[in-house]
Amino acid sequence: MNVVILAAGMGKRMQSALPKVLHPLAGKPLLQHVIDTARELSPGKLCVIYGHGGAAVPEMVARQHTGAHAAIDTALQEPQLGTGHAVMQALPQLDDSVPTLILYGDVPLTSAASLRRLVVAAGNDKLGILTVEQANPFGLGRMVRENGKIVRIVEEKDATAAERSICEINSGIMVAPTARLRDWLSSLSNNNAQGEYYLTDIVAKAVAEGMTVVSAQPAAEWEVAGVNSKVQLAELERRYQLNLAHTLLEQGVTLMDPARIDIRGSLTCGRDVTIDVGCVFEGAVTLANGVRVGAHSVLVNSAIGAGVQIKPFCHIEGAQVGPQAQIGPYARLRPGAELGQEVHIGNFVEVKNSTVAAHSKANHLAYIGDSTVGARVNIGAGTITCNYDGVNKFRTIIEDDAFIGSDSQLVAPVTVGAGATIGAGTTLTRNAPAGKLTMSRARQITIDSWQRPVKIAKP
Ligand code: UD1
Ligand code: MG
Repeated sequence: MNVVILAAGMGKRMQSALPKVLHPLAGKPLLQHVIDTARELSPGKLCVIYGHGGAAVPEMVARQHTGAHAAIDTALQEPQLGTGHAVMQALPQLDDSVPTLILYGDVPLTSAASLRRLVVAAGNDKLGILTVEQANPFGLGRMVRENGKIVRIVEEKDATAAERSICEINSGIMVAPTARLRDWLSSLSNNNAQGEYYLTDIVAKAVAEGMTVVSAQPAAEWEVAGVNSKVQLAELERRYQLNLAHTLLEQGVTLMDPARIDIRGSLTCGRDVTIDVGCVFEGAVTLANGVRVGAHSVLVNSAIGAGVQIKPFCHIEGAQVGPQAQIGPYARLRPGAELGQEVHIGNFVEVKNSTVAAHSKANHLAYIGDSTVGARVNIGAGTITCNYDGVNKFRTIIEDDAFIGSDSQLVAPVTVGAGATIGAGTTLTRNAPAGKLTMSRARQITIDSWQRPVKIAKP
């Protein structure tokens, strides 16, 4: 099969410099959704028609040329003279021996299953159209049937009052025998209300040749909903998120409110996972059995181990969290944070590019960057690893069972030996030996003769 994706329209109503098909839905460009769905059908040829937005669309398509997938062709449509004219631009790329499926780059949520049903219904010798009954069909092409058979499509602007009362609409998604499509497109005229070459006019041509025109219906109306404005984009985003939420609920995940979760990527959950309201998941996130995620947390490309509790308002990116760990509230795990079993990272603690081994704790107000922290280490409130001299970064090593007193600065490169204790307020610039108390602190003195100043009376 050939697949042609129409993406040349300008999307004026988006009120944006970004081409419409590059606006993200669930963190992914609209066109990317369509390409991903098309690829599920393993097309021999895949061609994207672009126009507005300069090089942005072909550049986005060029980034797809990775992995096992066949390359995607692009064709420029300039000027844009209608949907039929758009498909004409793809003709040199298409293989005549297989049918051609036409998709829209701004209709992101069509399921591969619905497309397969359409393609199967059409076979190799019929024209197939994905249609839907719509309570408010205003603005869309209507399916005109005689004795139940599709005979043509009429656009809103060209329709009679009687035709406008038809509720079955053309989604725009069609599949056609390629050689016939070639002929029909070459004979299109633009003699209509919009002065455009309508793809929809191929239907009457097929019927005139005696070809059977079949239709298939998507499982839900939103599968064929297009995005023309930010309002429609926001509506489809909520629809998509609700679908993902329902899938998670069916898998046994507890969502405190399925209307208040956002997944922009893939979220994989074990058994008995609970997610409170307002959480955002980006990229690939996995939550193992029994994980609880507190309200308003953001998790990006991270793996969270079994039984972990993430308290509210955490930001976790590029991190691995070991089983039974406790994180937050208000914790920040940055890329390269690897936490072992039952590690505790508390409020206002930031961990970056560091490993923290089992049972270690940093419960309050600390920065752990470029560090290797052993097991059962206690990091006191206010501890900072000074990893950066303004030019280079250095590592801090804290061995097993060390105790770092509050408000210490560990100036890297530096090592705290196993079982060492660092006195509160220490600025550590040389290695601290294992098992000993090390501190840098001016001795405490009391000045017996000192007296508080008294307020001088104004004359
Ligand atoms: C089209 C259909 C209409 C259908 C509706 C569904 C035609 C003539 N009409 O209407 O029957 O109900 O879609 O939404 O086909 N595009 C190009 N180049 C162009 C024109 C359009 O690439 O020259 C692309 C657009 O980017 C968009 C798609 O084709 O992805 C549909 O274009 P749009 O103008 O939104 O369709 P309508 O004319 O509203
Ligand atoms: Mg139009």
